[in-house]
Amino acid sequence: MTLQLGDTVPDFESDSTEGPIRFHDWIEGSWTVLFSHPKDFTPVCTTELGAVAKLKPEFDRRGVKVIGLSVDPVSEHKKWAGDIEETQGAALNFPLLADPDRKIADLYGMIHPNASDTMTVRSVYIIGPDKKLKLSLVYPASTGRNFDEILRAIDSLQLTANHSVATPADWTRGEDVIIVPSVSDEEARKKFPGGWKTIKPYLRVVPEPAE
Ligand code: BEZ
Repeated sequence: MTLQLGDTVPDFESDSTEGPIRFHDWIEGSWTVLFSHPKDFTPVCTTELGAVAKLKPEFDRRGVKVIGLSVDPVSEHKKWAGDIEETQGAALNFPLLADPDRKIADLYGMIHPNASDTMTVRSVYIIGPDKKLKLSLVYPASTGRNFDEILRAIDSLQLTANHSVATPADWTRGEDVIIVPSVSDEEARKKFPGGWKTIKPYLRVVPEPAE
């Protein structure tokens, strides 16, 4: 069955470039990004892993753990890590899971047989501290992901979790946000004592709450 938003993500045990990992223990109450790669020693994946390694401080700042997955053994991942550092100017600084028997790929639905029987698609799972799936994305092997967009989505998810606000189209940090419809005006007066702007009764905007 497809993993859906709000589901508790499946647990698994697997080897990684940083040793064996039991996923639910590894999450340990943190926000987590799990992202899959079709295969080791492939060009787009090489650029993606370098991009995430460079952005690691941004994930850390948000309290988010990152973990990659590729359907090859750790011995191959370790050789590939040398290429990533050499070509992308950034060393792998987060674990890369090995999934040679496609156990995790099957659990998470990362193999889309009409795209490829053997390689995973580029899946992204943003998981909350409660181990529930908050957002997922699926890209084909030929399209590298935009990790700034993933950070932007994390900012939105964390604002919703902490402040009952949603974010409008193309929102970026520092711009006004939207009071979620489930918050009544009466509740909003307590949560947002500085007030808000009502554009329509269902469209109420406030400055981005401080962290
Ligand atoms: C890549 O990472 O470059 C890639 C992997 C599989 C198919 C196409 C591209």
